[in-house]
Amino acid sequence: MLTPRNPVTSLAAVSLICALALIAVATALEAKPKMEKRAFGKIQDGRSADLYVLSNDQGIQAAITNYGATLVSLKVPDRNGKAADIVLGFDDVSKYESGKAYFGATVGRYGNRIAHAKFSLDGVTYTLEKNDGDNHLHGSFNKRMWAAKDASTSAGQALELTYVSKDGEDGFPGDLSVKVVYSLPANENELKIDYTATTDKDTVLNLTHHSYFNLAGQGNGDVLQDQLTLFASKFTPVDATLIPTGELRPVQGTPFDFLKATAVGARINQDDEQLKFGKGYDHNWVLDLKDSKSIAEAAVVFEPTTGRVMQVWTTEPAIQFYTGNFLDGTVQGKDGKTYPFRGALCLETQHYPDSPNHPAFPSTELKPGQTFHSITTFKFSVQ
Ligand code: GLA
Repeated sequence: MLTPRNPVTSLAAVSLICALALIAVATALEAKPKMEKRAFGKIQDGRSADLYVLSNDQGIQAAITNYGATLVSLKVPDRNGKAADIVLGFDDVSKYESGKAYFGATVGRYGNRIAHAKFSLDGVTYTLEKNDGDNHLHGSFNKRMWAAKDASTSAGQALELTYVSKDGEDGFPGDLSVKVVYSLPANENELKIDYTATTDKDTVLNLTHHSYFNLAGQGNGDVLQDQLTLFASKFTPVDATLIPTGELRPVQGTPFDFLKATAVGARINQDDEQLKFGKGYDHNWVLDLKDSKSIAEAAVVFEPTTGRVMQVWTTEPAIQFYTGNFLDGTVQGKDGKTYPFRGALCLETQHYPDSPNHPAFPSTELKPGQTFHSITTFKFSVQ
């Protein structure tokens, strides 16, 4: 027989259910950590830098400073679920200010070298700073203070960094407004970097990201055992100052063939002129992309002891693979670690070096009214 409900009891039950639901929602919200912001020291002119720590549900954590829009640390789980920081860097902004290695840097205006620090555009010759022998290398975006804004959405945590490079900075024409968004999509094992730029005068640019990866953990030996795949059938050979000769050379039959996964160190010390010029690998591979506008896989690195795998996806046409040949164990990095010769590798997605002096290379020009847009994603898994 049905007994009519006591209205007081029902009300109490409904209230209890509502309270429990509220607690559940609050706990769920609390469980989603917010982006953290911490002090990261001061640069010489007295300005303070900040460190923003982003995380997602996949166990990835990325720390980024507004000084240079620099990736300071990237924690990623290994095959046992144990996270380690897999990028080289420093504990304090002052070392980024004095550092010369571009650890974790947002590189610009022009990633890699421009021959004799000169190029012509619209009939005008521009002279750049010679900061690499007779050449210009990378520019100074990594030494600038960027404006930072939390741009997180329900899709994940994101940090938006903006910088206006004034007409004439590093010798380049035009006020260039740059936006770099680092994001950790909530449900993906990846770090995404999204670049946009506009200019008020015809100019050239080549933005890239310069993390030094050691998938075994930063400061943990060299990367010679890492298995690398590069989806590139050609590379741009260089002269002794690392300026491309203009040739697109097939990798087949050379130590530059990484079309099938090969240990980084398997051929690095071979008697090869290109390897000698680079003191190891320090070259630009031309990616075999089907359609240059869409994002495609450029590289895969597998680190056998931890099982970490990193895939690099990009909209860019090329990638600079650099084996940390200038590291020599003298730099004191994060957590008291020092970084040995070839203690990391860089996979810098980019346009070809020295493109402004090579009309046959894909163009790096940007004109007023156009918007430059580029995406690079580092995807992680284990094997
Ligand atoms: C790039 C260059 C290298 C080196 C590093 C920074 O990868 O190609 O030669 O300058 O940047 O140290």
